[in-house]
Amino acid sequence: MTGTRAEVTSTAPEPVVAIVMGSESDWPTMESAADVLVEFGVAFEADVLSAHRMPDEMLSYGRAAHGRGLRVIIAGAGGAAHLPGMLAAVTPLPVIGVPVPLKYLDGMDSLLSIVQMPAGVPVATVAVGNAKNAGLLAVRILATYDERLTRAVSDYQESLRAIASGKGESVRREAASKSS
Ligand code: RP5
Repeated sequence: MTGTRAEVTSTAPEPVVAIVMGSESDWPTMESAADVLVEFGVAFEADVLSAHRMPDEMLSYGRAAHGRGLRVIIAGAGGAAHLPGMLAAVTPLPVIGVPVPLKYLDGMDSLLSIVQMPAGVPVATVAVGNAKNAGLLAVRILATYDERLTRAVSDYQESLRAIASGKGESVRREAASKSS
């Protein structure tokens, strides 16, 4: 069996989050979700999966996702952005949609295509271009049954609070110097 696939073993953790997108051109936007998952130590996979250009592969991927051990799907697309909704139609997993802004319409087309889902088929839609929040939402979903991630999310929130508080401090100092 030397050199066969059956012999290959990997110590890399199995991905629990999928980051999929309609085209390679979406990656500069979607990369922020990957950065968040790296920061929180969450194993993920990423791929291009076009609802319009490769519909059969897209449906197969969606149908197999839960059985493969994935727990959350982050799906980004631009324009007539049907990928998140179509995946949500064929998987029991939570799907987070990222509206990718394109050259025209400021991403409003992507936003409305993703957010205006019919009742019964939810897609948790983040703000236009905000793949970072998609990554953070995926982490929070996983944290509901993972103590390590719950602590990591709390630490992250505390760091945000400290940064915001620091910004207030400089405004207060500036205001005090003007009024004295
Ligand atoms: C959408 O069309 C993709 O999600 C992408 O945002 C957009 C443009 O794709 P390319 O023409 O760059 O491949 O389906």
